[in-house]
Amino acid sequence: MKVLIKKNYREVSLCAALKVAELVRSKPAAVLGLATGKTPLGTYRHLIRLHKKGLDFSRIRTFNLDEYLGIGLALDKSYARDQSYARFMHEEFFKHINIPRENIYIPDGLTKDPEEHCRWYEEQIRKEGGIDLQILGIGRVGHWAFNEPGSSLDSRTRVQPLAMETQDDNYKKFYKKAGIPREDMPHFAITMGVGTILESRAILMIGTGAEKSVIVSKALEGPVTTEVTASSIQIYKGDALVILDRQAASRLSDSRFNQVQE
Ligand code: GLP
Repeated sequence: MKVLIKKNYREVSLCAALKVAELVRSKPAAVLGLATGKTPLGTYRHLIRLHKKGLDFSRIRTFNLDEYLGIGLALDKSYARDQSYARFMHEEFFKHINIPRENIYIPDGLTKDPEEHCRWYEEQIRKEGGIDLQILGIGRVGHWAFNEPGSSLDSRTRVQPLAMETQDDNYKKFYKKAGIPREDMPHFAITMGVGTILESRAILMIGTGAEKSVIVSKALEGPVTTEVTASSIQIYKGDALVILDRQAASRLSDSRFNQVQE
C-alpha cells in the first residue's frame, strides 16, 4: 500500500484524476470501479476537464459500487428529488464525458428481484474481465461502498441495511438539501461486497477532511476487522494507492505516512 499526502482537497482530486487518466490512456477499454459521495467529486471534475482536452472514454466500462434500494418508490417521483446514485453519476460525470450508456453499470435500486440482480451484477463484472481500478472513498464508520460494520471481508454484492451514522451523514449531505423528510430516506442499499472490491486489480482510495482523520487511521493502521471494512486494504493483494489531504492524514502515526508530497 502506498500513501500519498497532499496539501488539500484540490491537490488530492488532481492527483487521483491523473492516476485514472493514466490508466484510461494506457488501456483505452479499461474497467473502472466508481464511487459516489462528496470525496470523488473533485476527481470527476478534473477528469471532465481532461476529457475536454481529449481524454477518450468511448471504450471504458464502469461499475459503480452501490445504489440505494427502493429509491424513487418512497420518494417523490420527480427527477429533481431523486437522490439515486445513478442520477448523481449522470449529473456529476457521465453526461460530461463520451462514455456510451451501455458501458455503464450501476446496481438497479428499483429491481424487482434484488438477490437475482446482485448475482447478475457480479456476473457482469466477471464478463467484462474484472475491475482494473476501483476508486473508493471511506465512510465515517470505515465502510467502503455500503459495507457497513460487521460486513464479512469476503462478502459479495448484496442487499445491506444502512447503519444509522451512514444514513445521518448521507441525509445531511444529499437528502436534506432536496427537502426530503428523514423518514423517506432509503434504509437499505445494494452494495458490492468487500470480497468483490478486493478482487479489483488496483485500488485508489481517497480521503479528505478532518472528519475522516480518525477513521482513516483506524483503516490504515488499526487491526484488520469487519468493524472497519476499509481496513481490509491492509490485506489487499493488488496495487493499493491511498491519497489523503493533510487533515485526513493528521492522525496517522506511521512516519512513512507523514510527509506531504507537493
Ligand atoms: C456513502 C457511500 C460511500 C462513500 C461514503 C463517504 O456511504 N456509499 O461509497 O465513500 O458515503 O462519502 P463522502 O465522500 O461524501 O464522505
